[in-house]
Amino acid sequence: MSFKVINFFMSKSFKTFLKHTAKDFHNQSVNPPVVRASTIIFKSMQHIRKTQAKAKKNPTGGHYDYGRQGTSTTHILQKILTKLEESYHVFTTPTGFGSVFLAIFSVVRPGDEIIVADPVYSPTRILTQDFLKEFNIKTIFYDPHNLETLKNNITKKTKLIFVENPGSNSFEFQDLGKIISIAKKNKVLTAIDNTWATPYYFKPIKFGFDMSIVSATKYYSGHSDVMGGSLAVNKKVFDKVRATEKITGLRLGPDDAYLITRGLRTLDVRLDKHRENAKKVAAFLSKNKKLKLLYPYKKDSYNFRMWKKFYSGASGLMGLKIKSKNINSVRKFVNSLKLFGYGYSWGGFESLALHQEFRETGNRKYMNLAKDEHLVRFHIGLEDPNDLITDIKQALKHLK
Ligand SMILES: Cc1ncc(COP(=O)(O)O)c(C=O)c1O
Repeated sequence: MSFKVINFFMSKSFKTFLKHTAKDFHNQSVNPPVVRASTIIFKSMQHIRKTQAKAKKNPTGGHYDYGRQGTSTTHILQKILTKLEESYHVFTTPTGFGSVFLAIFSVVRPGDEIIVADPVYSPTRILTQDFLKEFNIKTIFYDPHNLETLKNNITKKTKLIFVENPGSNSFEFQDLGKIISIAKKNKVLTAIDNTWATPYYFKPIKFGFDMSIVSATKYYSGHSDVMGGSLAVNKKVFDKVRATEKITGLRLGPDDAYLITRGLRTLDVRLDKHRENAKKVAAFLSKNKKLKLLYPYKKDSYNFRMWKKFYSGASGLMGLKIKSKNINSVRKFVNSLKLFGYGYSWGGFESLALHQEFRETGNRKYMNLAKDEHLVRFHIGLEDPNDLITDIKQALKHLK
């Protein structure tokens, strides 16, 4: 192979590793090649069999006999992410949601039960609540701020606890330590959607989760031009996930793998800046009495304490709970923003805003949003934060 995922142990800092890894010394390029292949060509039949034997012996070693298994371009991304996650292995999928699907379908079977955080990403809710039902798999949702609802719903049939932290669009931070200890005591597997923080700010596998999902569409790629997902695993679940990945063909293509590898070069720089900008915007928003900030900012809150306990940083995605009897004025506030785009996804370089309705939050069991309370989501991008604050200030004049 012509590239190297190099020298992590020479430089202790991951920031340095991300800049220096994946160089292509063979072709003398600072970045790895994009190797596209359906057919992989061998020197002889013996060479095919030898490669297959190597793949069997070392399934994470980058030995492929067909393009669906990946090429050196996907392998290098997996190797970088495995180091970032400090996991046993990382599988890469065509979308982040593909990784959610892969995690769940690797470990649950008909007759099983699964317990899911109430504020999960709405498609994850539909997958577990509705789609799993068709396979005779029961889903129970737990209250992110009352883990008795998690503990008390575990039965002999429970196979998986699925966490998303913080909660999608409502941003509850949970007691992750308690969740892991409940799971271990009851011998139940755990998965977490860690897209908000990425392993740059929190490493779930090291912490004790069996599986960790990141939508690479967001901060990993960072430029809003690629879709992808990653599923980090420990050794315990590796074989199950590998078998499911194989049978479903849920694998990332080389062009997208290259773009995500390129994005990762600057993951730390971008996330540090998203965090700095979000902190400045949060400081401004926290002074407004009409708004409740859904972001780890206020030191005396439970959410802040739970964030501080487990995370080394915060990303650029935040929520606002707005109290207003006039929903049109909330819509006008959002529509008056000039530097924020209106659209789905987040984690790119740019600021985005969304007025959250039922479609985004889903049919929650534990979210008590009063009729005069509204949710708005901001993704704070890499613009000058003073410009963002000036923009929000002018838009807030419309809020009644
Ligand atoms: C928390 C979270 N998880 C998973 C996903 C799904 O990722 P993708 O859009 O890459 O399929 C999203 C997408 O918005 C998300 O916000």
